[in-house]
Parts: sequence; C-alpha cells; structure tokens
Amino acid sequence: MANPHFDTEVLKDNLSTSWLGQSIRYFPEMESTNTYARKLPSDEIAHGMLCITDNQTKGRGQYNRKWKSHPGKNLVFSLILLPQKTEGFHVLTLSAALSLVEQLNSILGPEKSAHIKWPNDVMIDDRKVAGILTETVFTGNKMERLVIGIGLNVNQDTFAEELSGSATSLSMEKGGKVNRERLLSDILNRFEYKYRLWQQSKTKLLKIINKNILGYGKWVTLQINDKIQEEPYKMLGINETGELLVLNRDGGIETFAYEQIRIASY
Ligand code: BTN
Repeated sequence: MANPHFDTEVLKDNLSTSWLGQSIRYFPEMESTNTYARKLPSDEIAHGMLCITDNQTKGRGQYNRKWKSHPGKNLVFSLILLPQKTEGFHVLTLSAALSLVEQLNSILGPEKSAHIKWPNDVMIDDRKVAGILTETVFTGNKMERLVIGIGLNVNQDTFAEELSGSATSLSMEKGGKVNRERLLSDILNRFEYKYRLWQQSKTKLLKIINKNILGYGKWVTLQINDKIQEEPYKMLGINETGELLVLNRDGGIETFAYEQIRIASY
C-alpha cells in the first residue's frame, strides 16, 4: 500500500503557533523544498511559511551533498523566515536543531538521547537522524529571507549500505511508527518560542543550545577550515552571533565562524 500523503489539516489542528507554519505550501513531489523556498517571489512569501513535500527528488545537503529520503516516510521541509535583524542568524539554525532535539528526547525516553552535532546535524546517540541546510537570499546587501531546510528521518526503516552504520530514524530508535503531522506541529510550536527568545537576545537560549551540543565543555578534536587539528580544544559553546568559542591548550580563547569548524571527534 502506498504511504499516505502528509495531511496538512492534522498539522494545523495541532499547531499552537501564531505565525510559524500558518501559511503552508505542500506538494506531493518537488525537487527541493529549499530551492522552492529560495525562488518563491517576495510577494508570495509570508514570515514563517512552511514548504513541505512527501517526495523530494533533488534534495540538497551541506557541502553540495545530496539529501535522500524515502517518499512519504519522513519530514522534508523548509521554513521561510524574514528576521528583522540579521546578526546571529546562525543561532536560529541551532534553535531549530534544539527544537528537534527537545522533541525527540520527549519521545525517546531516558535510555536514548538526542543531541546537536555542531554545526547542524541532529544525532540520536551516535547516529544522524536529521540534517539542516540554512540558506540566505540577499537583495543587494540586505538579507531578504532565511530558509531553514530540515530533513528528519521519521519512519524510514532502511538506509543505503554506505549510511547504514551512521544514519537512523526516529521509528527505528523508538521502536514504532510516529505520526509525522503531530511531530512537525510539536517541533514548530517549540521553534516559534525559541525564535522569540532569539529576537529578544535572551542568553537563556544560548545556554540551552550549549547544553545540548555534543562535546560541550569537553576537550575535542576539531577540524578547522578542512584541517584536522592535532591539539585538542575545549568547547566553550556559542556566543550571541553563533560563533563557537574554544579554549586552546595554551589557555587562549579562540572564536570561529559557524562554517569554519567541525567536530572531528569528541
Ligand atoms: C545535511 O545534513 O547535509 C543537511 C540536509 C538538509 C536536507 C533538507 S530536506 C529539506 C530541505 N530541502 C533540501 O533540498 N535540503 C533540505
């Protein structure tokens, strides 16, 4: 039997947001929700618009990779945001990741745990369950929109051989099918609240993000600008602009931009 399509009415019934996900573009199939969200004419977009599909045929990931997702099984969507400030928008990507982490943890129970893997993966224990691709659209030097694209493996139960040791889905970890519509509404409810904290520059938001980043407070091996570092660094967490602060072995604090750094091992 074919997978049932994503039911936007069930999503709406469970949404308690005032703007996030209130305007929805759903297509049974499309190339990429991020590409669509980036190309949509300005007069057709609304702050918080959700673009979602059941089957993404040209899904894009970080570093020009492909994002593959079994049709009708997972959550594949993009959120269009029109922030009034552009400073620190990377914190929004991390806030989206945090919203996923919190929701996954509320479903999984104490023996499994979801975390953010810097900069934009969501892990359940040591397997990747979701990835985020954030893109910006500029008009001149003004950021016109932010597109946060999320691929969350929900009910997919098999992965290509090359991913089988490193990828997972929520249903595989939980041991049972998950309602995608309710899951997405719960995530959006959480994210709208975090967006408000970000707008108000609340340090509370940074603290919760930091607590949920793998390796936070620990000595880790970093990959800086594609080069794996020999000396370990202690992860001190993010600041309000979304940069990562680390302590080197000489006791100096270094700051790295979002894209510059990856955690090689922790
Ligand atoms: C990554 O881990 O490399 C990021 C993956 C992001 C995938 C999502 S799926 C929805 C949105 N549309 C895309 O083409 N990509 C993002």
